[in-house]
Amino acid sequence: MSFETILVEQRDAVTLVTLNRPQALNALNTQVLADLSAAFAAYDADPSQLCLVLTGSEKAFAAGADIKEMASKAAADFFLEDFFSGWQKNVVATRKPWIAAVAGFALGGGCELAMMADFIIAADTAKFGQPEIKLGVAPGMGGSQRLTKAVGKAKAMEMCLTGRMMGAEEAERSGLVSRIVPAADLLEDALKTAAAIAAMPPMATMVNKEMVNLAFETGLEQGLLNERRLFQLLTATEDRVEGMKAFVEKRPGVWKGR
Ligand code: HXC
Repeated sequence: MSFETILVEQRDAVTLVTLNRPQALNALNTQVLADLSAAFAAYDADPSQLCLVLTGSEKAFAAGADIKEMASKAAADFFLEDFFSGWQKNVVATRKPWIAAVAGFALGGGCELAMMADFIIAADTAKFGQPEIKLGVAPGMGGSQRLTKAVGKAKAMEMCLTGRMMGAEEAERSGLVSRIVPAADLLEDALKTAAAIAAMPPMATMVNKEMVNLAFETGLEQGLLNERRLFQLLTATEDRVEGMKAFVEKRPGVWKGR
């Protein structure tokens, strides 16, 4: 598949998507959303693809929603288009796992896009921020909610109110990213991690993803009930029988994906 604003390649069972608007530091415009929506839908639908890595450039994962595109829009346009809703519908809705590999700036919508991933691996150069307040607006792609859940109220509030950026070390300490790696190793590390996930029984990865996300969306009692039911669902898969048999026989499992 070829796109205007992203590059997509398949490396065995891992899809690598690279944001490719270097002239605008990968600012997220309508075309980027359309391209990512199509690429993520294709990934989700392709049984040969079992994990996805989304990355940007050395300088910027993405410097935000495209300010130049938004500047001339009227409030009614944002409302009538339900501007930004496509991110939730088309990107967050992806059922299979995906990782954001972030180097450089992840600001505004860029930070929000990274936080839509199942987890973030950060280069030591990564800088996260929600600087929308400086433009007279506020996060619109989930930042006020996901950042607060990830790093807690104090840091999220400070970042949203001042636009201060958070470096990779603070981001790891605060729980925003799972790991920091040297910038030169970022892609290799993320692809290796994705390959490890792709080697797992595919239904189990989808269910594990859904379970962890439930912790953000439901109360404890409901979350625990849903976890048990999803666990029980997985026991019905052929891969569960194979996984347990393979353990007893001291050999790697061979997965059918069902
Ligand atoms: C459109 C952008 C852009 C953006 C950078 N560019 N960010 N274009 N939208 N979000 C463009 C610049 O205009 C410039 O184009 C080129 O990319 C290089 O950027 P520079 O500013 O020259 O680079 P540098 O001096 O290194 O500064 C990097 C930076 C800065 C600190 C990241 O670009 C910056 O502050 N960007 C905006 C960050 C931001 O505010 N993000 C939040 C956006 S709002 P030219 O043509 O001049 O070379 C958002 C949600 C809003 O995400 C929700 C409201 C509804």
